[in-house]
Amino acid sequence: MKTAVVYFSQSGATRSFARAEANARGADLLEAVPIKKYNPLTAFTRGCPAAIRQKSVPLQQAPDLSAYERIVLMAPVWAGFPAPPFNTMVNLLPSGKEVEVLLVSASGSSEKSHDKVRALIRSKGCKVVAQRDIRSHQ
Ligand SMILES: Cc1cc2nc3c(=O)[nH]c(=O)nc-3n(C[C@H](O)[C@H](O)[C@H](O)COP(=O)(O)O)c2cc1C
Repeated sequence: MKTAVVYFSQSGATRSFARAEANARGADLLEAVPIKKYNPLTAFTRGCPAAIRQKSVPLQQAPDLSAYERIVLMAPVWAGFPAPPFNTMVNLLPSGKEVEVLLVSASGSSEKSHDKVRALIRSKGCKVVAQRDIRSHQ
């Protein structure tokens, strides 16, 4: 099954998990980089409210996901929700894809946003086949 791991990472943790995931599956690794980058302050002031409202942000390059059957979306959890570039990645999903959601957080839980994240992906005509949380710190 042709698989892409598409990720956003602000401070590197999701990047390392995404690399490991792509290597383990023999998948292509694609990074989503927002045009307007966050810093530690704006991640909180701008990023968190947008994450909660499931807003997307423009990316430097829109990855072409049409060739893949399965797409693994990875992002850090901000204020309980995936960081805004995750929502842009969802908007770029062609319909009919199998999607896995892997979110990286300090707590290892994004439980409160699970239903809304699934609903967003389903609204694109895609099927959520897995949804998993990864804890970044011990
Ligand atoms: C703006 C901001 C908000 C965060 N909110 C949460 C949160 O709600 N729950 C949590 O467990 N961790 C939260 N974290 C911690 C990150 O999810 C965690 O450090 C993650 O591993 C960062 O991934 P990255 O290095 O790929 O950016 C937050 C971090 C930032 C910068």
